[in-house]
Amino acid sequence: MPAHASLSLQLRKILFAAILFLTLAVVIYWVILENKPWVVPEEYKSLKNPLSPSESNLNVARQIYGNECTQCHGQRGRGDGPEAKQHYPLPADFTDPKLLKSATDGEVFYWITAGRRPMPSFKRRLTPDQRWQLVLLVRSFSQPTPTNSVPTSPLKPAPEKSNHQ
Ligand code: HEC
Repeated sequence: MPAHASLSLQLRKILFAAILFLTLAVVIYWVILENKPWVVPEEYKSLKNPLSPSESNLNVARQIYGNECTQCHGQRGRGDGPEAKQHYPLPADFTDPKLLKSATDGEVFYWITAGRRPMPSFKRRLTPDQRWQLVLLVRSFSQPTPTNSVPTSPLKPAPEKSNHQ
């Protein structure tokens, strides 16, 4: 084999390895970035919602949610909006009671305020009151209310008497 041929073969091998390495590095970096826990600054964590979950607050929130959030989070908060599948990570299911159980109001407020790719920030688009109203609504998706759940009581077995145990 002529010397220049083996040299170019060597070069191609090095080039191939370099490209492979770079691709891997980019993929690993991206995965780490995407899975980074969503850290909430301390000053937000302890914030309390100044608003109460009244029907009027929830109704205002429903209006805003319908305009700004349904395309991703879905009408009922199930994370199944028409745009949801185009996004990574997928929008979470707010009807899962575990999702926000350990989150403080301040944390949920922060997530809506700051956003995180692909979710936009609503700091400029919505007033703090509107964001607090959304916190109430987002939490309400996991609490069955007469308007968003089918009554289940007739299907539940009668509770066992505890004195038999
Ligand atoms: C472009 C799609 C998109 C829009 C619009 C959007 N979100 Fe999100 N949202 C997401 C995605 C995706 C996540 C998950 C992000 C993550 O885990 O990194 C998320 C996360 C959240 C979270 C944190 C809880 C969780 O899922 O882990 C809250 C709360 C939330 N969104 C509320 C809202 C509200 C309220 C609105 C409307 C004002 C809204 N979002 C608009 C895509 C969107």
